[in-house]
Amino acid sequence: MREKPILAGVIGSPVAHSLSPLIHTIWAHRAQIDGYYMPVEVPASYDDFAKTMDALRTIGFAGVNVTLPHKENALRYSDEASELASKTGAANMLTFTDNGSYADNSDVTGFESAVKSAAPDLSVKGACLVLGAGGASRAIIIALQNLGAKSIFITNRTEQKAAGLAEKFGLKTLAWAKRKDAVESADLVVNTTSLGMSGQPPLDLDGAKIKPGAVIADIVYTPMETPLLKLAREVGNPGVNGLAMLMHQAAPGFRAWFGGEAEVDEDLRTALVGELERRR
Ligand code: ATR
Repeated sequence: MREKPILAGVIGSPVAHSLSPLIHTIWAHRAQIDGYYMPVEVPASYDDFAKTMDALRTIGFAGVNVTLPHKENALRYSDEASELASKTGAANMLTFTDNGSYADNSDVTGFESAVKSAAPDLSVKGACLVLGAGGASRAIIIALQNLGAKSIFITNRTEQKAAGLAEKFGLKTLAWAKRKDAVESADLVVNTTSLGMSGQPPLDLDGAKIKPGAVIADIVYTPMETPLLKLAREVGNPGVNGLAMLMHQAAPGFRAWFGGEAEVDEDLRTALVGELERRR
């Protein structure tokens, strides 16, 4: 008898723009796995999220990725959570098991992998600078700590929010007005704000102040090369864009649910860039 296709997907609102279905479909095709990965739009409330998860489990879904605004709901819904998900307070992966559901956070490991592949010899023994203190910055902070960062500075337009994360994760805060000077001593700079996204003003840092060899990362992937990443390229520094993070965060889900290889390579990147260009 023919086995049933494997089912997985991504939960969010909005979710139609997500590139995750394309990433998983490419991997499934490469590994000749019979499976479907679909976007599922779910309104923001916990109740809607929980009902949808119950339904997907009943249908036989292997697991789901979870994006905004449901990452905290995913952790709350889970029966068990990884240390990373608990520490972040959010999950972007839910795996359905016979006993319930398991929450994990591959945004953390995705950022780590993206940085390591852009700069294999990176040393973060100096300072790291995190710009932004919204939902995305928590996973980045934990990833930096996992990469061995000893000293992490956080700065945010609303300084109270930076202070909150600094207290929780043992970071140093920096006034938003000082961000340009702080770049001078950072081995790694990461933008977690929405500045630089299409339709938003750029993040106004000074290329001349970027430390030689420092990694410049941006979680934004529309555009692929934000004004910040352009600056990094012009002064010859390694850059990590949001697309690299997106591809790397997707791999653990594919391996867990579809059971195949999930290679992050140039062909995958080219396919995603092509899709983004088609949408413009
Ligand atoms: P996410 O979950 O993607 O991090 P978020 O929680 O809405 O989204 O956070 C957005 C981040 O971008 C915040 O750090 C926000 O700063 P505030 O906390 O001051 O709102 C930052 N941000 C958005 N627009 C900005 C702007 N025009 N200037 C500076 N920072 C901005």
